[in-house]
Amino acid sequence: MSLKNDLQDLKKAGLEAVSRVGSVEELEEIRVEYLGRKGKLTRVLKGLKNISPAERPAVGKLSNEVREILHKDLEIKKKELSRLAEEEKLELEAIDITLPGKIPHIGRKHILTQVIEEITDIFIGLGYQVAEGPEIELDYYNFEALNTPPDHPARSLQDTFYVRTADGGRQPAEEKEVLLRTHTSPVQIRVMEKSEPPIYIIAPGKAYRRDVADPTHSPMFHQVEGLVVDENITFGDLKGTLEVFAKAMFGQDRKVRLRPHFFPFTEPSAEVDVSCFICNGKGCRVCKWTGWIEILGAGMVDPNVFKAVGYDPRQTVGFAFGMGIERIAMLKYGVNDVRMFFENDLRMLEQF
Ligand code: DAH
Repeated sequence: MSLKNDLQDLKKAGLEAVSRVGSVEELEEIRVEYLGRKGKLTRVLKGLKNISPAERPAVGKLSNEVREILHKDLEIKKKELSRLAEEEKLELEAIDITLPGKIPHIGRKHILTQVIEEITDIFIGLGYQVAEGPEIELDYYNFEALNTPPDHPARSLQDTFYVRTADGGRQPAEEKEVLLRTHTSPVQIRVMEKSEPPIYIIAPGKAYRRDVADPTHSPMFHQVEGLVVDENITFGDLKGTLEVFAKAMFGQDRKVRLRPHFFPFTEPSAEVDVSCFICNGKGCRVCKWTGWIEILGAGMVDPNVFKAVGYDPRQTVGFAFGMGIERIAMLKYGVNDVRMFFENDLRMLEQF
């Protein structure tokens, strides 16, 4: 076995080993095995000292060639392997830009908040200020000061949520009784107690009544209250104000109609209708074929209310009004069940 043959065999074995390699790490092992300082080529060359000096240059040349060939082959394989690895990585990390995206849920204001803000903005535009009062109220503000006598049906246990001590302790005197306000009208009293005319306020907020929830009733609901106290205020001012509001809220073609009614805190009192904004007054399901839709209660502030807050009833005039927000929102947006506002079903809420 000559050294030359050994070198040829080594070359053949080396090339074959390289061709079978599947990773850069394995390739490095092969390089060390064949060309490393203690590798196979080095070992073969240890035989050089046993051959004749005449043969040495030729064997030396061959060994250089073998080293060169193996080295080049290793380099080529290395490039190929890293190219494959790169391609694999690209494929793994590929993003399919044709896939449909995930649409994020975007938050929004509740439809009732939107309606309250719309109403409030209209009155702010007319120079009104926004006032607020507590939802847990005294009987005095909710009824007494609003000229609602103790035997008024609205005060009955059937209509009002009373707040009583858990130990069933002695009940307080009637006007000190605590309740959930049944309307936003007590804010009128709280505002007048604290300030002097001229008063132009709007008071949005929650109100509570002992109703069983059904398509048109909810034990918690929202109202917007209005109160104006100024010199020379007339019933005509009330009607004009409500007309401006109705047109801004329901469209420029709306008309307003006042029907005589009774509220303890206003005299005279009226229920206010707008011409139906669905059928334009011709008659449809929404207005129950009357052409008119009731939207609020209103009237001239009763002198007894002024007396309760310490104003001189002979020298003070004003008007007040109150409207139910759910009812207005239902009419305006065709919602036919008040409970839908409070169920928080996104299929409902996302429509607004
Ligand atoms: N508070 C009344 C209700 O809840 C609505 C109302 C009517 C308010 C006439 C007023 C008013 O300010 O003048 O039914």
